[in-house]
Amino acid sequence: MKILGKYPNLRLRRVRKSDWIRRLISENKLSADDLILPIFVREGKNKIEPIKSMPGVNRYSIDKLSYVVEKACNFKIPLIALFPYTPNNKKNNYGTEALNRNNLVCKALKIIKKNFKEIGTMCDVALDPYTSHGHDGIFLNGDVDNDKTIKILAKQALLQAQMGCDIIAPSDMMDGRVAEIRKILDKNNFKNTKILSYAVKYASNFYGPFREAVGSKRKLKGTKKTYQMDFRNSQEALREVAVDINEGADMIMVKPGMPYLDIIKTIKDSFKIPVISYQVSGEFSLIKNGIKNKLINEDSILESLTSLKRAGSSAIVTYFALDVAKKLKSN
Ligand code: PBG
Repeated sequence: MKILGKYPNLRLRRVRKSDWIRRLISENKLSADDLILPIFVREGKNKIEPIKSMPGVNRYSIDKLSYVVEKACNFKIPLIALFPYTPNNKKNNYGTEALNRNNLVCKALKIIKKNFKEIGTMCDVALDPYTSHGHDGIFLNGDVDNDKTIKILAKQALLQAQMGCDIIAPSDMMDGRVAEIRKILDKNNFKNTKILSYAVKYASNFYGPFREAVGSKRKLKGTKKTYQMDFRNSQEALREVAVDINEGADMIMVKPGMPYLDIIKTIKDSFKIPVISYQVSGEFSLIKNGIKNKLINEDSILESLTSLKRAGSSAIVTYFALDVAKKLKSN
C-alpha cells in the first residue's frame, strides 16, 4: 500500500483525539446479534450448579432453563447452543444415549421451542458427552471408527431436528458426516434445518475446562489428534472447509478462536461463507482469571470478541455472551 500524505501534514492521531471521533470512524462494532450463548444442561430438579473450571458458568436442570433462556431473549441474543452433562451410568462405548428421545438435549429442545419462539437453538453433533471413553465417535481397535460413527451421527442429527433444533452443528471432525447429515435431514423433510459445520476444529489444549464441564475430561483415553486438526496447519483448514461446503454446510465454525484469527480471515476471504468462531473454555478461563487477579481489566473481554469479529467472524460462541450483551445494552 502506498501511503498518501506525509508528516507533519499527515497526523494519524487527529482521528483518535476524542471519543466521538473514534466512534465515528470505528470499523467494527460488536452487538448482541453477534453472540451465541452456550448452555450446559444437567439432570435433576431445581439445580443451578456452578462449574468450578469455568467461574460464572452454570449447569441448569431442565426446570431452571427458562431462567437463563429468558435472559438471552431479553438481551436479543439470537442463538443458544445446548450441551449436556450426562451422568456416568448413561455413558457407554457407543454413546447410545445420544439417540435416546428423552435425553437431556431432547428435553431441553422441546421445552425451549415451546416457550421461546424468538431465539434459535443449536446442538452439537458428536458423541463425546455420551461415551465412556470421552471420544467423539465409536472407539474400535485403538481409534475412532469414521464410517461407523457417521451413521450414528446422522441419526443423532435427525433426532435433534425432530425435537426442534434449528441449527445442527457437527463438531466431531469425522470425514463425510456433513453429506450424511444433509441427506438424512432432506429425506425426512427437514429441508430448512441449517448445518453449521465445525469444519475447522483444532486438537487444542484450550478445551480443558469444557471437558470438565461436560464430564469427559477424566474419561478421555488417548488423544483426539487422529480426527481434530493439527495446530501447525492452515492450508489444510481450507481443504476442510471446501469439502464441507460441497457436502452441504451452510456455515462454518472455526475453533478455538483467538489463537486462530489468521484461519478465520483466510476462510472468510476465500469462501465468502458465514464464519462463526468459538471462544473456547480455555480462552474464557484465562481471561476470567486475569480479570480476577487484576492483571487485565474487564474491557479485555470486548477486545477479545472484537478481534474475532475484525478477523471476519459473523458471530461468536462465547461464555461471556450474557455479560457482554448486558454491557452493550447499558452503553
Ligand atoms: C467436542 C466438543 C469440544 C468442545 C465442545 N464440543 C472439544 C473437545 O472436547 O474436543 C469444547 C468447547 C470449549 O472448550 O469451550 N464435541
